[in-house]
Amino acid sequence: MTGAPSQAVTETSRRIRPARKLAGVVTIPGDKSISHRALMFAGAANGVSRILNLAPGVDVESTQRVLASLGVGFQQDGEALVVTGVGRAGFRKPEGPLDCGNSGTTMRLLAGLLAGSPHTFELTGDASLRSRPMKRIADPLRQMGIDVELSEEGTAPIKIRGGKFKAIDYELLIPSAQIKSAVILAALSATGVTHIHEPVVSRDHTEIMLNYMGAEVRFEQVVVGSDQEDPRRRGTRRTDERNISIVGLSQWEGAELTVPGDFSTAAYFIAAGLLVRRSDIRMSGIGANSTRTGFLAALSTMGAKLSWQKRKTVQGESIGDLTVSHANLSARKISGKLIPRLIDELPLLAVVASQATGTTIIRDAAELRHKESDRIALTAENLKRMGAKVGILEDGLVIEGPTRLSGADIQTEGDHRIAMSFAIAALAADGETELDDAACARISCPGFFDMLDALR
Ligand code: S3P
Repeated sequence: MTGAPSQAVTETSRRIRPARKLAGVVTIPGDKSISHRALMFAGAANGVSRILNLAPGVDVESTQRVLASLGVGFQQDGEALVVTGVGRAGFRKPEGPLDCGNSGTTMRLLAGLLAGSPHTFELTGDASLRSRPMKRIADPLRQMGIDVELSEEGTAPIKIRGGKFKAIDYELLIPSAQIKSAVILAALSATGVTHIHEPVVSRDHTEIMLNYMGAEVRFEQVVVGSDQEDPRRRGTRRTDERNISIVGLSQWEGAELTVPGDFSTAAYFIAAGLLVRRSDIRMSGIGANSTRTGFLAALSTMGAKLSWQKRKTVQGESIGDLTVSHANLSARKISGKLIPRLIDELPLLAVVASQATGTTIIRDAAELRHKESDRIALTAENLKRMGAKVGILEDGLVIEGPTRLSGADIQTEGDHRIAMSFAIAALAADGETELDDAACARISCPGFFDMLDALR
């Protein structure tokens, strides 16, 4: 059966057959995290921006739809999305609640961004998003003097009354780029200078893009991780903590913004290439920002030979090309400061670990329980269904490998990263696997299954 495409079973479910070989070039779509930021920062800029290679998924559409309802102008011009900004404090009074769909980034970043405009905004979303913790952003915003209302459970809907408020000093105790970004965005509309200390560095796309657009966000360029991961970066300091300062009431300008390929999407193809024998998969123009590429760091310590080619910096973001082929991997402990750098890739790393020799221990990852699903519980449940040996910890997983996986019925709970991770597991399993909801991949990568099939 190898070589045949995976089959649609119902509108949302999908059967996936094992693969004997995966080969070819994959075009990885634009980065979801960076696309949200490009839309929001262009929307709040002074003047016109042009965005190239915007991510295609439903989450990014949610951001665009909400911004359009608040007065931001969008027009397609060939490959570019032309955005007419309303200015930092110029969002118009909303006509009703703003629906962020499934997207935590949309909700949390907008909570900070909208606080500068003098209206009441209500942010809501689907059942998954309405169950996720929001006190983590309400707390620092309230410290600034912003009026924020949550449900009794500390969840959305979030009501924000925008207006005048002040700078704060803030220690980012949860290493979350969404919290950090909400604070940075609110700080740009505050009086005074806000200082943020990050004891553990989280993704820094917000700082890089706002800085590029001329906002007064000052931060030190750093590279996180080992020299081995990225020996060529010059003029940067290696560290595992960071200070950021934001000058309030400063405005930034529209710009040309090119979104790199999404490393988190590339990760599925990296894992597929490693797990399926006789594979050779090539990808170019992938985001190589070291705050995002912890998955590569983990795989390197497990024995994978993966090195960046054609590395360069575009608008402050590092990008490069990757080629992946099959490798035998050994188990490692994955924990500590590496975790925020591969947070979205952990379900996939657990799948890979089931094929590595020895005991993989993933710790310090309790945040995974607060994603689109409880990703610790759901990853373990689905790995067990496929026959893997998995133990659950409060803050992680223990996986004994290697185990030959068997095709199984996979429950995704509508979580795109669970669906895509187990689509990769299915390629390396015996027999067919059925995902109960494959359509949820469209949250971040609508073309995912076609891209995978094209490599068979
Ligand atoms: C994101 C940050 C991460 C990540 C999410 C996207 C972002 O969340 O899991 O998919 O774009 O800032 P946290 O900041 O909550 O860890």
